[in-house]
Amino acid sequence: MKTKIFIALILCFILTIKGYSQQQPAVTMNNFITSLMKKMTLDEKIGQLNLLTPGGGIATGAVVSSDVETKISKGQVGGLFGVIGEEKIRQAQEIAVTKSRLKIPLLFGSDVIHGYKTTFPIPLALSCSWDMLMIERSARIAATEATADGLNWAFSPMVDIARDPRWGRVAEGAGEDPYLGSQIAKAMVMGYQGNGLGNDNTLMSCVKHFALYGAVEGGREYNTVDMSRVKMYNYYLPPYKAAVEAGTGSVMSSFNTIDNIPATGNKWLLTDLLRKQWGFKGFVVSDYTAVNEMTEHGMGDLQTVSALALNAGLDMDMVGEGFLTTLKKSLQEGKVTRKQIDDACQRILEAKYKLGLFTDPYRYCNVERLAREVLSADKRTAAREFAEHSFVLLKNKDQLLPLKKSGTIALIGPLANDKSNMLGTWAVSGNSDLSIPVLEGMKNVSGNSVNILYAKGANISDDTSFAKKVNVFGTRIDIDKRSPKEMMDEALGIANRSDVIVAVIGEASEMTGESSSRSQINIPASQLTLLKELKKTGKPLVLVIMSGRPLTINWETENANAVLFTWHAGDEAGNAIADVLFGNYDPSGKLTISFPRSVGQIPVYYNHLNTGRPNPGDDFNKFHSNYLDVENSPLFPFGYGLSYTSFQYGDLKLSSTTLKTTGTIRASITVTNTGNYDGEEVVQLYLRDMVASIARPVKELKGFQKIFLKKGESKLVSFTIGIEDLKFYNAALKYVTEPGDFKLFVGGNSQEVKEGSFKLVN
Ligand code: BGC
Repeated sequence: MKTKIFIALILCFILTIKGYSQQQPAVTMNNFITSLMKKMTLDEKIGQLNLLTPGGGIATGAVVSSDVETKISKGQVGGLFGVIGEEKIRQAQEIAVTKSRLKIPLLFGSDVIHGYKTTFPIPLALSCSWDMLMIERSARIAATEATADGLNWAFSPMVDIARDPRWGRVAEGAGEDPYLGSQIAKAMVMGYQGNGLGNDNTLMSCVKHFALYGAVEGGREYNTVDMSRVKMYNYYLPPYKAAVEAGTGSVMSSFNTIDNIPATGNKWLLTDLLRKQWGFKGFVVSDYTAVNEMTEHGMGDLQTVSALALNAGLDMDMVGEGFLTTLKKSLQEGKVTRKQIDDACQRILEAKYKLGLFTDPYRYCNVERLAREVLSADKRTAAREFAEHSFVLLKNKDQLLPLKKSGTIALIGPLANDKSNMLGTWAVSGNSDLSIPVLEGMKNVSGNSVNILYAKGANISDDTSFAKKVNVFGTRIDIDKRSPKEMMDEALGIANRSDVIVAVIGEASEMTGESSSRSQINIPASQLTLLKELKKTGKPLVLVIMSGRPLTINWETENANAVLFTWHAGDEAGNAIADVLFGNYDPSGKLTISFPRSVGQIPVYYNHLNTGRPNPGDDFNKFHSNYLDVENSPLFPFGYGLSYTSFQYGDLKLSSTTLKTTGTIRASITVTNTGNYDGEEVVQLYLRDMVASIARPVKELKGFQKIFLKKGESKLVSFTIGIEDLKFYNAALKYVTEPGDFKLFVGGNSQEVKEGSFKLVN
């Protein structure tokens, strides 16, 4: 008997620390919710489907909700977002649980995108680390901080595959590849949600934007999307599916149309695919006023589009209040059913239950955790580490980097001593005053051994009307009172007195992100003029480029001696950049999105089809698929990134040249660190299906391993390939493999690879 009690106690203890204490059995949850719903009026049920924002955060639509307190008291609100801070959240929750009739607690959401108060590099940057544990950790830390401040719901991860860098929101995703994108989607969901939603430090994730938002025509924000099902299933849908499989509690519908039907009112998408095919059990929230916007899409008036959305499978209406104001009428008129309202309400109540809000509506408002977690020193340390691992070294002629910790450095450029642009887009709760600019970081890391001279040199842009559009959330492009010539003279003055120039240039943070599409993705003219003058000094030139998207940097990479692409790196940008420039960390990032040579090449991506007249190389060939005025290849391919050291790949060995559908084969390669530094390398595995019932890409990523090698060290890297790696959606959208020849490639980027081949046999 005693043993049994002891075992029960141990079990209880294990379950509690694993966070299962709040996750009572489904039957308990069902009983609870059924009995609650029996007490609810129709209006109260519709109220749960209403998500409002009282303002104060970043409002990305035209509307900010009004009379929020009254609506909460009347049971007309299911959740809020844009309310930041434990105290404010507690106050709002108090209204719900003391003043509304049934005291149903509210959900509190926010765009926790790359960190919370402590801001990490933008998601595209984090993806370049190819480090899944690190990415998961970044979401876990963000969740720990955000939940201590009252939040329980993150509008993240954004997993939209994007092949068009003109689209400003490439900054928020993981680049162009479905395989890598899926791994990252999973890591993020696991990071936010931990072992389940039961703990008070787990955030419910909301995978977005479902679906295909990254394929807007011309890269223009909110534009039309149109693509074949084969393309969707094979390239664009996998990351959303991976997030669903990882258990995301919610999904956000996107703004764009799919088959000419807005995603928010698209029944095929939200019900047939998401719920029936993929088995998603959580709830779907619209994007900001996306229900109302269906009127602009030409789908009818507010009542019609609200009914369309509910019928399609949407559960929660963000900001627009179409559900709140029209669903009752639609029910009376037979345009929606009571069951549809009940189902949506039930899914939202289930999320609240799983988050433990019915047990304790204030469980995420914990002042002790707040004091301990928010902006704690360990989070800053992590921010620095994450940033270092996200940078991509694009060029390093004659091993100019790392810099010596001696002599004189001219640190020049509009982003060299700037705090306002370090955090990057969608740092809703970050505080740029806390960020470290490069000048400060360089001084921190080099101590007194280096003489650092600083000059701004140029504005990010001299164009005042452009600056006005970028400066909507505060000054990001600060046009100096001095003339461009005065700034330039100062910069040239210090450049001439230095041993090396480090120019920190690029995009302001709000030149990417939502509603920040660009038709030209170059370095603005003011900065290019500066670079050309710096080049003329004949001093070695290092470029540190900050940006939220790939840029067309042909002149820059040709003329600089070294180029470090740092994206927007978050709070610790300056320290991390200095760590890398001075060699405290050997860069290991690899691009997750191709860099075009020119905008005219877009979309340029590595996993393209072959065409019937493929060009054998980059030289022009008449009547082949190419351009008269630019090569086919990107400026920098997917998977590319240098290190201070060098890696040599040995011969690729396959355990067999035939693969049976029930078996596996192993591909092995020896990688040697042949340079002068210890370093990390991302070893990448690509496959090509040579003959199939539909045209298949020239390469597809199917595996990768990030390895650390001391200088001189070698490691045997092995990949196991099985039938799952060869599957694709055929013309009938069946997930199949087809026997035949396959090629296999292993290398340090998608272009420089060792090749092998095998045959798939039944
Ligand atoms: C964006 C979403 C975001 C939402 C709430 C929208 O405009 O598209 O990504 O989660 O606003 O802030």
